Amino acid sequence: MAQKLSVLLAGPGHEVVNYQMMPAFLSDNRLAVAGQAMNWDVLKSQLPVYKPEVLVVQAGVAPGPDELINLVSGMQAWNGVTLVLLPPGATGARGAFENMPGVVAGVHSTEGLNFGELPALAYSAGETARARLMKVSAAPVMAAAPAGVGYMPPGLQPVLTGTKRIAVLSHAGGAGVSTVAEGLAYELAVRLSIRTLLFSLGMPAAAASHLRLRYIPSMTEFFERPGRASIQSAIQRLEGLDVIVAPDNSLEYLRMGQVVDTAAPNSIYAGLTAAEDGSYAAMIMDLPGAETPWMLHPLYFANQLLIVARPTMADLFATRHTLSALNILGSKLPRESIYLVLNQVSEASAFTPRQFLEELASALDWSPPIAAVIEHDPNILAAQNQRVPAVTRSEKLTRGVRQIISNLFPGMENTLSQTQENNNGSKSVFRMPKFRLG
Ligand SMILES: Nc1ncnc2c1ncn2[C@@H]1O[C@H](COP(=O)(O)OP(=O)(O)OP(=O)(O)O)[C@@H](O)[C@H]1O
Ligand SMILES: [Mg+2]
Repeated sequence: MAQKLSVLLAGPGHEVVNYQMMPAFLSDNRLAVAGQAMNWDVLKSQLPVYKPEVLVVQAGVAPGPDELINLVSGMQAWNGVTLVLLPPGATGARGAFENMPGVVAGVHSTEGLNFGELPALAYSAGETARARLMKVSAAPVMAAAPAGVGYMPPGLQPVLTGTKRIAVLSHAGGAGVSTVAEGLAYELAVRLSIRTLLFSLGMPAAAASHLRLRYIPSMTEFFERPGRASIQSAIQRLEGLDVIVAPDNSLEYLRMGQVVDTAAPNSIYAGLTAAEDGSYAAMIMDLPGAETPWMLHPLYFANQLLIVARPTMADLFATRHTLSALNILGSKLPRESIYLVLNQVSEASAFTPRQFLEELASALDWSPPIAAVIEHDPNILAAQNQRVPAVTRSEKLTRGVRQIISNLFPGMENTLSQTQENNNGSKSVFRMPKFRLG
């Protein structure tokens, strides 16, 4: 059984805490109410004692917003997050709370609030915080490319903790990059309640057709008026998933792709940075296969890379190219942050996963491990033709995506096994030495 999320409920008085908040929480078995605080003194003294993963607090319990902000900022010490409920008189403080995205996972006005939805919001906030805590990679950063060869601007370093910035890439075309990126994003956000932002950066953006989204708004909003507000306004929502698409207008796409300097205020890199507001556990980037800033900036921004390949000769060559190009293009991703996803695998495949790794390792001096093997499944294309998320129609894709999640988010096993029956808990990374032939 997965470990329940611990929640502390706080508000001004018995009425608010016991009648408004409590009932919905009691009926959600993913959450455990660790305690209640019905006045400020109790909240102040009990918060550091309980160390709840999520605090749900009606702001009226505090003498003022500053005191509450002060108190909840201390929750960073144990990676706790808080949901703030603002009573009618206190809505002016919304901005101040929203400015602390690391600790404040949401601000809601009590007026018109459906208290029955609070547990789901608390669960999502807590799971997102848990996922963010897991280290991206403990590995040391690979030696930088030799001077003159490196393309990644000096000063940029992959970030190793916090939000996972996952680039999904293939140089082959049609390998399943968009399918995997979208499946991963949907599974995390919608089925596992982990705050996730998907960037669909192909030309045209695959998410529009696959997930029934629009081409407007798009990254163009940011390009024209760089800033946090414009990148926020570019977000489209699909159930619990946030998505930003590349512009569908070729001229706009070309213009954005001409801003090579990552430090330029309207670069793609700047757009990715502006979108990272501290509230996401995962940012997933579906990259195009051409080596333009549409591929390169997300690659510099990423701290994890998934290379998607079919078990074919052409994709073996494409993967080899990707791996040797990374260094030349200036990516400083450590090897430990790079994984393969073998997709569209079937009985008839030219290579087994093991042979594919063998071939790669004999061409280079290493091979990334395989994070997942995804079988060929006609249901995937059928779902995409109907414009519904493919993971809702393909168990094979769901299984593969969950293998990826268990590798990229170590510690999520509990949550995964809770929502997946046939999880046998086995590690799914295939590392080279285990597969030496002969
Ligand atoms: N596991 C799978 N089984 C069967 N079909 C698949 C599988 N994965 C992807 N496909 C199909 O392969 C095609 C290409 O997939 P997708 O668009 O995700 O690839 P891509 O790498 O993003 O391609 P592009 O180079 O055009 O960006 C689609 O028709 C998709 O339905
Ligand atoms: Mg694609």
